Amino acid sequence: MPRLLIKNAKALVGVHPEGTTRVGGQAMASLPAIEDGWLLAEHGRITSVGRMAEWPGVSDWNDLTVIDATGRLVLPGWCDPHTHVVFAAPREEEFVDKIRGLSYQDIAARGGGILNSARALRLMSEEALFDQASSRLRDMMHQGTVAVEIKSGYGLSVESELKMLRVVNRLKEALPLHIKATLLAAHALPPEFADDRQGYVGMIIGELIPQVAKEGLADFVDVFCETNYFTVDEMERILEAGAKHGLSGKVHVNQFTSLGGIAAAVRRGALSVDHLEVMEPSDLDALQGGGTIPTLLPSCSFFLRIPYAPARALIERGCAVALASDHNPGSTPSGNMNLVLSLACIQLRMLPEEAVNAATLNAAAAMGLSHELGSLTPGKRASLLITREVPSLAYLPYAFGTDHLDTVIIDGTPVRSGDALA
Ligand code: NIG
Ligand code: FE
Repeated sequence: MPRLLIKNAKALVGVHPEGTTRVGGQAMASLPAIEDGWLLAEHGRITSVGRMAEWPGVSDWNDLTVIDATGRLVLPGWCDPHTHVVFAAPREEEFVDKIRGLSYQDIAARGGGILNSARALRLMSEEALFDQASSRLRDMMHQGTVAVEIKSGYGLSVESELKMLRVVNRLKEALPLHIKATLLAAHALPPEFADDRQGYVGMIIGELIPQVAKEGLADFVDVFCETNYFTVDEMERILEAGAKHGLSGKVHVNQFTSLGGIAAAVRRGALSVDHLEVMEPSDLDALQGGGTIPTLLPSCSFFLRIPYAPARALIERGCAVALASDHNPGSTPSGNMNLVLSLACIQLRMLPEEAVNAATLNAAAAMGLSHELGSLTPGKRASLLITREVPSLAYLPYAFGTDHLDTVIIDGTPVRSGDALA
């Protein structure tokens, strides 16, 4: 693991004080920065940061990689706490159907959507799933993602859900980025259980959760709580079973309808509630002052042409809002967190500082990793981004669709080497 010195940075951005594990409400607009800064990393961790004017020098220049970041910003790497990157095939024919006027729900009602992905995934080998997902994750690392949560949910049987989670666990071993795994067996009712939803939920609670916990295959449990998918009551039963086995909840709620799932998930101590495109005042109230993180997915709203989540109302209520890509073949065929940052500013009206906090520190918190990642704080992992020469932080989301990154470093080691390293 090389030692690393970044010097002359235009600014080190996101230098939160030690012990800050999330920022909520008004504090989201504050993104501590050190202008004209340096950062030292050893053994994959940030050891110290400071201003060039107070640069103490290093006593040992051996094995030290020096990066001159003149004109460039240094930021914590993007954390992406909600994805479905293990899947068998894209669904661009449904994309064209949507252009022609069908909705996400229309497509699901014809047997497309999640069930379409499940049919393909059940037929695909673990090896092929691994290869495809690892190539998606390599693209995401290139785009600055240093940590990612990955869900199951296209298996919809004991065997195929376990197959997906085994793929996720192999990816954990094989790739440098940090990965968390989530069991999302309650993603859709599989055809075998079309007339027996109690049987399917019973199988998740009685068989899958205990087995997954026994094999240590997942960190979290998820449920798609939505009209035509799973009810609030079913979600609560699954969250309860997960909690008994040490799996915290991260749930899909309020994507198309408000069913009261948010209040129930908060009551059950869910780590995050994700989507939130359709919100009643009572849903907003349920999140006020609680520990559950609202995770917003603006690139899903963009792709499906559905409403954007009310980020401003959530921030006004003091919430620690997080952002994620939702990368999946049906509602968001993109894992690009730079685009998510732009959409958060343009469509959710988040300030650039709020959006960066939401895509780094709060996103790390939404997968239980903010003690390790999400800010340029000494002691944390040296997983960070060095931009090209840019005029300001706001320029990153402002000039959308352009690649502003130069170098991506994970645990002190470059995974994308740009001009700054040359
Ligand atoms: O987060 N809404 C449910 N699950 C995914 C979409 C899954 C799919 O369509 O394949 C989502 O949008
Ligand atoms: Fe999702």
